[in-house]
Amino acid sequence: MVKPCKSQWHRNTAIFTTLALIFFLNISSALAQLDGKKIYKANCRSCHYLDDKSSTGPGFQGLSGKHPDKEWTFKWVKNNVSFAKTDSKAAEISKLTTNTMTVFEGVLTDDEIKAVIDYLYTNPTEEKKVDVAKGGSGATTSEQEGGINPLYLVLVVITVMLIIISALRSVKRNLQNTYNEKHGLPPLEELNWRQWCSRNKRTVALIVIVTTSYGLQAGWYALKDIGVYTGYKPEQPIKFSHKIHAGENGISCEYCHSGVLKSKVAGVPSANVCMNCHKGIEQGPTTGTDEIAKIYAATGFDAATKTYTKTPQPLKWNKVHVLPDFVYFNHQQHVVVGKQECKTCHGDLTQMDVAEQVSPLTMGWCIDCHRKTEVPGMKDNPYYEDLHKKLAEKYSGQKDSIITVARMGGIECAKCHY
Ligand code: HEC
Ligand code: HEC
Ligand code: HEC
Ligand code: HEC
Ligand code: HEC
Ligand code: HEC
Repeated sequence: MVKPCKSQWHRNTAIFTTLALIFFLNISSALAQLDGKKIYKANCRSCHYLDDKSSTGPGFQGLSGKHPDKEWTFKWVKNNVSFAKTDSKAAEISKLTTNTMTVFEGVLTDDEIKAVIDYLYTNPTEEKKVDVAKGGSGATTSEQEGGINPLYLVLVVITVMLIIISALRSVKRNLQNTYNEKHGLPPLEELNWRQWCSRNKRTVALIVIVTTSYGLQAGWYALKDIGVYTGYKPEQPIKFSHKIHAGENGISCEYCHSGVLKSKVAGVPSANVCMNCHKGIEQGPTTGTDEIAKIYAATGFDAATKTYTKTPQPLKWNKVHVLPDFVYFNHQQHVVVGKQECKTCHGDLTQMDVAEQVSPLTMGWCIDCHRKTEVPGMKDNPYYEDLHKKLAEKYSGQKDSIITVARMGGIECAKCHY
């Protein structure tokens, strides 16, 4: 009863379906990676807000009117320093602020730069600040709005494929039945979907495998962005201004956050550290004596007699940055060994009156930087020198042979998760 051609035909359909699905999955994951909004958040937001001027760079509203075309903006973003030497408009923009923009040549690919420019030319506006009190779910939804969700694309493709397959099948059935009729053979029996499944185990298995693996992949992308709190700036018990201290008065970050040089945590200074200066400075330029009096209350200092005779009421600063407990992050490793600047991860605190979270602190954010950043300090360290030589040999044939944190093992799960 079973025609030899039948199983052959099914095998072809199955192979065709699988290949087509794999093809579209690749396209959709490529789309997901080149999301201009994500690239903006990870690379530009520390210095540029969408709507207004940030403390470091200009806002992006009306960019398309300000620049001649996307190609021009591309040259600026790729290497603003060299562009400003050859282009008079670029030279003008580079004088907009006293800060200098990062050179993205070698940091972002041309396609990534184009994706972020395409995004910025749509004049996007800032999302509402995430209300942390409402938990992470709000953040996840706002992360996902805008742009096509690749999952929908794949669903549409699968539906279209199924329609085509069933149309082809019914054409084939009709032809086969016409043939059978002509040669006096019985017509093909009608199969319900259960019978169809049990006769086409191979196809069913393939569909199941492909759908599950896509599900896993989508889950992975979702995980990369859970709990994003950029823009979070809680009220503090004392209106402490980084701008006044680290900016105007040029106090170094390490003076107060001494942990960065020698330990995992940066640490927040105790009120005693404040007293090193505020025993003498009783008044501030904007808050008078009100806020500084709180330091005295915290340390039990009596400003009238200049003695510590009152009961101290310890300060409780509200944490701005919070990584989950299962993530290991070490400041010394990044600041001392990795030679990363505070600014890269925290934005420019010297311009902030209120400390705020600038980077998303997601797994995707950590991993993106580990993929892009070259491990510094190879030259003076024999351990790295040796490792570097080995890795350089391993990657020598490749287009970019820089030794990134990722290539040194910095994206292994156990490095960040106990
Ligand atoms: C380290 C801070 C910093 C980062 C990160 C940064 N920029 Fe800039 N950008 C600046 C500054 C500062 C200026 C103003 C020009 C100047 O003073 O040199 C600027 C200017 C620009 C301009 C010109 C704006 C105008 O009004 O003409 C564009 C466009 C731009 N940046 C795009 C980007 C993009 C896209 C990214 C991310 C891929 C990015 N920038 C990341 C600091 C930064
Ligand atoms: C005079 C002391 C002092 C100096 C100097 C100082 N900070 Fe701070 N920093 C604090 C205090 C106090 C807090 C806690 C209150 C707050 O969040 O504003 C804090 C908070 C922070 C936070 C947020 C911590 C959290 O809860 O997640 C970051 C990030 C930070 N500082 C970075 C820096 C950087 C970078 C510099 C140098 C540019 C710097 N600080 C210089 C005192 C200081
Ligand atoms: C190294 C010296 C130094 C240290 C340490 C220091 N401050 Fe200050 N603080 C200053 C100076 C300088 C001013 C500005 C005074 C002025 O401009 O009149 C100031 C001003 C202030 C003001 C008033 C701001 C305003 O706008 O009115 C507050 C509040 C303040 N500091 C809190 C703190 C706290 C809290 C700490 C400890 C975490 C601290 N300071 C540590 C030097 C210091
Ligand atoms: C590679 C990114 C990165 C760099 C560079 C970096 N930080 Fe952080 N910082 C973080 C992360 C992530 C957290 C959250 C840590 C946590 O919750 O365990 C954090 C937290 C902090 C805190 C809150 C207290 C604590 O230790 O948890 C302070 C203060 C701080 N950083 C200051 C600094 C200063 C000052 C520098 C520069 C000397 C710096 N950071 C450089 C990523 C960075
Ligand atoms: C701005 C870039 C940058 C970001 C963002 C960043 N890192 Fe790193 N990270 C580095 C560099 C550079 C090194 C290499 C330091 C070294 O050689 O040990 C490193 C090393 C590490 C290592 C040691 C890897 C090893 O092979 O021993 C761990 C663990 C780590 N980072 C965790 C994190 C976590 C967790 C986050 C996110 C919360 C993060 N990093 C975000 C730049 C970054
Ligand atoms: C460079 C550091 C880094 C590496 C490497 C890394 N992670 Fe993560 N991971 C993080 C950070 C940071 C978070 C927290 C993200 C957040 O809170 O938004 C996280 C969160 C997670 C979560 C989410 C848990 C939850 O529900 O909150 C899972 C699951 C996870 N990681 C698994 C993995 C696996 C599996 C690997 C290896 C393939 C891996 N991670 C490698 C930094 C890292």
